[in-house]
Amino acid sequence: MTADEFRAALARLAAGVVLVTAHDPEDGPRGEDVGMTATSFLSVSLDPPLVMVSVRNGSRMDDLLERQPLWGVSVLAESQRHIAGRFAMKGRISDRLLFEDIPYERGKETDAPLVRGALAVLECRTEQRVPAGDHTLVIGRVLRTDTPATESGPLTYFRGRYRQLG
Ligand SMILES: Cc1cc2nc3c(=O)[nH]c(=O)nc-3n(C[C@H](O)[C@H](O)[C@H](O)COP(=O)(O)O)c2cc1C
Repeated sequence: MTADEFRAALARLAAGVVLVTAHDPEDGPRGEDVGMTATSFLSVSLDPPLVMVSVRNGSRMDDLLERQPLWGVSVLAESQRHIAGRFAMKGRISDRLLFEDIPYERGKETDAPLVRGALAVLECRTEQRVPAGDHTLVIGRVLRTDTPATESGPLTYFRGRYRQLG
């Protein structure tokens, strides 16, 4: 099996898109926020409530979550494709600029930016880190959730493109 064959098979798994975020208390005088678009997010356990995301080793998010355990997840709505696109870019511009015109609230438990208009937001504390190839499985305990009233559909990713359901 080639890498292309591997990618082609997985591209046929429709996935919800989330923005994983965290606040870096050490980076700069006022701290900096980091965000990463992800489709590897999933629920792991009900009791205790655990979720997981697979984070590429050496990425900005990996570096931050090695140092501090608090992070947030925003489940993106179909209208938030531009946010997913922006936070999937390799970090050439400052993280602070990436968040500049995006409405968010800071998580009560984690200080992580939680995107306004997301279908749901979760705040998590890392419970376990499992090395897995060129990624690390970051398993987090869910400290708080918020599911605002909305009729909006989810942003999904399928065959290499962002999609709306239906
Ligand atoms: C649809 C989509 C899903 C992604 N899912 C993940 C993921 O689950 N884990 C991950 O580490 N990177 C994922 N990425 C890539 C990251 O969003 C991107 O590489 C990262 O934000 C760049 O950070 P860096 O500049 O620190 O490498 C995904 C990208 C896209 C477009």
